[in-house]
Amino acid sequence: MKVLVVGNGGREHAIAWKVSQSPLVKELYCAKGNAGTIKIAKSVPTDPLRIEELAEFAKKEGIDFTIVGPEAPIVAGITEEFEKRGLRIFAPNQKASMLEGSKAFAKDFMQKYSIPTAEFHVFDEAQKAKNFIRDFGLPVVIKADGLASGKGVFICKSYEEALRTIDDLMIKGVLGEAGKKIVIEEFLEGEEASYIVMLNGDKYVPLPTSQDHKRLLDGDKGPNTGGMGAYSPNPFVDEQREKSIRELIIERVIKGLKEEGIYYRGFLYVGLMLTDRGPKVLEFNVRLGDPEAQPLLMRIRGDFLKALVDFYEGKHISLDTDPRHTICVVLASKGYPQKPEDGKEIFGLEKVEKEDVIIFHAGTELKNDKVITKGGRVLNVCAWGNTLKEAQEKVYRAIENIRFEGMQFRRDIGYRALNFLSKVPD
Ligand code: AMP
Ligand code: GLY
Repeated sequence: MKVLVVGNGGREHAIAWKVSQSPLVKELYCAKGNAGTIKIAKSVPTDPLRIEELAEFAKKEGIDFTIVGPEAPIVAGITEEFEKRGLRIFAPNQKASMLEGSKAFAKDFMQKYSIPTAEFHVFDEAQKAKNFIRDFGLPVVIKADGLASGKGVFICKSYEEALRTIDDLMIKGVLGEAGKKIVIEEFLEGEEASYIVMLNGDKYVPLPTSQDHKRLLDGDKGPNTGGMGAYSPNPFVDEQREKSIRELIIERVIKGLKEEGIYYRGFLYVGLMLTDRGPKVLEFNVRLGDPEAQPLLMRIRGDFLKALVDFYEGKHISLDTDPRHTICVVLASKGYPQKPEDGKEIFGLEKVEKEDVIIFHAGTELKNDKVITKGGRVLNVCAWGNTLKEAQEKVYRAIENIRFEGMQFRRDIGYRALNFLSKVPD
């Protein structure tokens, strides 16, 4: 088979790595790819958002199966572009992508189908939002309606901060169109979980559980980012919780999609807060998470491409999971998430011990045989361990070898689970 992976990040490198192990693959392409994917896939020089060009390329090249990483091409309609040319693509259509593309749409959908989520109100006028917020408790969560690469959520601890955020989004337009409409919602407390399933109509298969660290700084401080690190499994999702996630959320989403006449085929990511009143949905994403995909795919055994293709075709599949723990730590550029610096040479990659460690590239490119930074999140250093602690030790040992100017990363990925596990008797 000829397989195309769409996207440039760590998630796409991990997808390409997993797919490349399948005996079904004859040729593997990545659009556009990075300095890591180039070693296992041919780079296609087309930006993931040029969806018509990509579909034309796939048609001409005879691509048999396409897997899409990021949300932007999905929201732009890549699935329709491929499907109208008779091409197989594993990604939801544009209508379904509204679950991620518009937070207001997602919240209304959840309300309509009794899917547990934070209490909320939607506004498209700044003054009304400001008047409303006065009577809402603190902290208050303000979310840009549209896509913002994980940077459109603001947790405001004071009214002044909330008013400023409303001004920034709705008047100054710091996030452009994405912030012209906002969702104001109740602040939820608990542990977070990323619960990702493969969905095809009314069939679904859960992927291994994970937890992401979205804040920039240690101790979950600082601004929200696309994700600074993740690990799998997530010990907070025990059997009982998983059962309620499936019954109260996944199965209701499937029912809701059916009633709305929306056909969904692709990955569905549910971002959850595990509150003491049960799991509540923070967000839906119509794709795999980044960086969650990295530790999660590292735990899937066997031929993942075959499983995907069979699942796409409506066959029953089951996934075999590696019981070991996996972890991923993101190395980011100076200035990330606001204004990342590019063009720094990366040193030491060759010094990293490969045993139980793997590096997925994100914002990197090859220039004169040198690996150069290009983007906010640059590298994903990942490891396997018999325990989470062991995986964490291996990953941080590996990172000691790597450097580039301005490199920033969190030194505590996994700490929440480790604290929790240390209190649970064996
Ligand atoms: P989202 O993109 O909606 O998942 O939000 C990004 C991050 O903001 C989440 O992973 C949470 O850490 C935080 N967050 C979002 N909504 C809430 C909420 N209602 N209460 C508390 N934290 C939230
Ligand atoms: N890591 C969170 C996301 O992919 O949206």
